[in-house]
Amino acid sequence: MKKTVLVSGGAGFIGSHVTVELIEAGYDVVVADNFSNCDRTGYEGVKKITGRDDLPLEIVDFCDMAQVKALFAKYPIDAVIHFAAYKAVGESVAKPVMYYKNNLMSFLNVLEAAQDKGGCNVLFSSSATVYGEPEAVPVTEKTPRQPATSPYGNTKTMCEDILRDTVKASGGAVKGILLRYFNPIGAHPSALIGELPRGVPNNLVPYITQTAIGKRECLSIFGNDYPTPDGTCLRDYIDIVDLAKAHVFAVTRMMDGKMKENCEVFNIGTGRPLSVLELVTAFEKVNNLKLNYRFAPRRAGDVTAIWADPTLANTEMGWKATRSIEETLKAAWAWEKHLAGK
Ligand code: UFG
Repeated sequence: MKKTVLVSGGAGFIGSHVTVELIEAGYDVVVADNFSNCDRTGYEGVKKITGRDDLPLEIVDFCDMAQVKALFAKYPIDAVIHFAAYKAVGESVAKPVMYYKNNLMSFLNVLEAAQDKGGCNVLFSSSATVYGEPEAVPVTEKTPRQPATSPYGNTKTMCEDILRDTVKASGGAVKGILLRYFNPIGAHPSALIGELPRGVPNNLVPYITQTAIGKRECLSIFGNDYPTPDGTCLRDYIDIVDLAKAHVFAVTRMMDGKMKENCEVFNIGTGRPLSVLELVTAFEKVNNLKLNYRFAPRRAGDVTAIWADPTLANTEMGWKATRSIEETLKAAWAWEKHLAGK
């Protein structure tokens, strides 16, 4: 019997890539989204890539418990991967109530539904943001979390704790995996799905590709006076397809009863730090173009350097990042060109 995975926020950037990998691994997937922060491009792209024209799509607001209940009643859900959340750091500082309400309520409703059905496997999309500015790098899962610097980051920390408590109280009927993503970038090699930010991108790679295509005039590199080798920040950029595959490993681990604890946490990164300038240079080289960029003042809230120690995910889950930064940056550029019809 095929197992069914509910992907909340399944039409978004990460959700769409995860849906593809789950289908390719043989899972039945239910995509649920309210399209509050994306259009149908991701969902339509997934159908094209997988050839699954019948891919179930449910328009659901996860903050509405009646809708979540109806969803759980309609499908035999074996696991939920929860992406449905707001994700703009700056906006969360300006609109904390909106962020807490949406990101907490939607997850609480999923957990209540999981409890009500007598148990479920729940995978939560957490973030390296929970480590704040770490005292030592790379960070392992044992690296202490730091107080969040934004309401967005705080919702990640809080949802981690909520899942942990729920798993504990359920006596293991609800099982949880927290995946802490580093910096997801790139696009599917088909160029049919990718990142589609609304308005001016906050994140580096979409800003780069939009600058290269001529939608933005100039990339600002925020800060070149950090205590790093070239003065720009260091991050762990993880290919979106590699990241998506980590979810298949995690879900299968839950389904197959391979978990060592009822709530587990894994860093999902490459283990390789790259500076902003190195990333920009790699983008120019691999795509054979010149990017218009300038150095600008530091951006408030940025940490100097963070990258993952992914050993636990490598050894315990058997997952490892395999795609090179060159492949990833080529895919990101192919996606931007696809969007522009080029
Ligand atoms: N950057 C620029 N110019 C830009 C955009 C980004 O120089 O136009 C730099 C940033 O200063 C940072 C690096 O590129 O040094 C990466 O920035 P991103 O915004 O792409 O990613 P962040 O590391 O800031 O964000 C990530 C996740 C968030 C998370 C945040 C918290 O994408 O979800 O880490 O640490 F909340």
